[in-house]
Amino acid sequence: ELFDAGGLYILPGAIDDHVHFRDPGYPHKEDWESGTAAAAFGGVTCVFDMPNTIPPTANGEILAAKHAIAASKAHVDYGLYGLLGDNTIATVPELIDGGIIGFKLYMGNTFGKIPSPDTGATLECFEVAAATGKRVSLHAENNEIMERRQKRLMAAGKKDQWAHLAARPNVVAVEAVSRAAILAEWTGARIHVLHISTAEELRPLREAKARGVDITGETCPHYFLLSTDDYARVPGIIAVNPPVRERQNQQPIFDALVDGTIDVIATDHAPHAYEEKTRNDIWTVDCGFPGVETQMSLMLTQVNAGRMTISDYVRMSAYNPARIWGLFPRKGALLPGSDADIAIVDLDRDHIIRDAETQSRSKVSPWDGYKVKGLPIHTLVRGRFVMKDRKLVPATKGWGRSVHTIQAMPAPVVRNTEHSMQAITQGAA
Ligand code: DOR
Ligand code: ZN
Ligand code: ZN
Repeated sequence: ELFDAGGLYILPGAIDDHVHFRDPGYPHKEDWESGTAAAAFGGVTCVFDMPNTIPPTANGEILAAKHAIAASKAHVDYGLYGLLGDNTIATVPELIDGGIIGFKLYMGNTFGKIPSPDTGATLECFEVAAATGKRVSLHAENNEIMERRQKRLMAAGKKDQWAHLAARPNVVAVEAVSRAAILAEWTGARIHVLHISTAEELRPLREAKARGVDITGETCPHYFLLSTDDYARVPGIIAVNPPVRERQNQQPIFDALVDGTIDVIATDHAPHAYEEKTRNDIWTVDCGFPGVETQMSLMLTQVNAGRMTISDYVRMSAYNPARIWGLFPRKGALLPGSDADIAIVDLDRDHIIRDAETQSRSKVSPWDGYKVKGLPIHTLVRGRFVMKDRKLVPATKGWGRSVHTIQAMPAPVVRNTEHSMQAITQGAA
């Protein structure tokens, strides 16, 4: 069979280390089939699924069930996060045995209402994680600040779209990143700060990296392409945790992504139903929106605008995620995508994002009507077309595999906590 990629660019498939595919638990929002179809259309060949499903991915049995679902439905490769918190310290060995890509710890409360561990418990979680060598992805928001603010705003009857922002001022994220960096330094835990939303988080991130903390960062297109200027246009729809911020945060975040301070571009793909996004009450609207399908086009648009190079893009979308999560397919293969995980893109294609035309079951995002230049035309996972000529290849349902099996296990760096580590592992045994 002849295949013509003339005029197109061949890139490593993107690795999106932050998606919520809702399966099991919320099939009306998304499932492994619709979510990975969206990924295939977005040039994304590997996704890491978050644990805030029903039930949360908190022990070996639940993890095994999610593995079975994903294996039967996925069009692209995947990793599964295990939940790390107060109640899962004891189940960490089962999660490791069951095959996770890493841990997710919710420092702040968000969709799914996973309880956030206090600082003492977070320190213990980091100690336990450090001993496994697995990285911990963090929803870094300070829960105490948010809860007090929200209570005060609700008592004052503030229900407008800005109340959501007022309850989550920038310090909510900055404090959590700073504290997490200290706790990681103290324990040797490897941490990954998800969805960096403020310019001010860059300082603790830079400083921790300079001190040798094993800390990496991620941001998403909405934190540097959207701002509070967009709230009046798409109120409710744009609600996300952490929130889209004031415009002055955009350029510093974008610059940090290009200079490598922020390692990874991901999406926090967080699908919800239309009714759940358009409730006329900022406190009960579901937070988040889909993104796995549009990230590559939004970023190639930045390449076309001369804001970064294609190599910059490949570094943040594929090389860095492969590096920090240990996903190079074999020793010495330091090219992401070299096992034929490929996105073939038309850099010249003008396209308008239409939520109604996307693969995600969630047909509601702030990107509806957004003009992009650059579109994935074909996507291959381990050599097989999963999306060809902008059409899904239905026969590849179930082709996706968990990538934890190829994950390299780096040696943990443990400082200062040998004694408490021993106490905890003996206690758990
Ligand atoms: O807005 C958000 N939505 N932030 C999160 O951290 C979770 C996500 C979701 O699962 O919907
Ligand atoms: Zn989050
Ligand atoms: Zn998320």
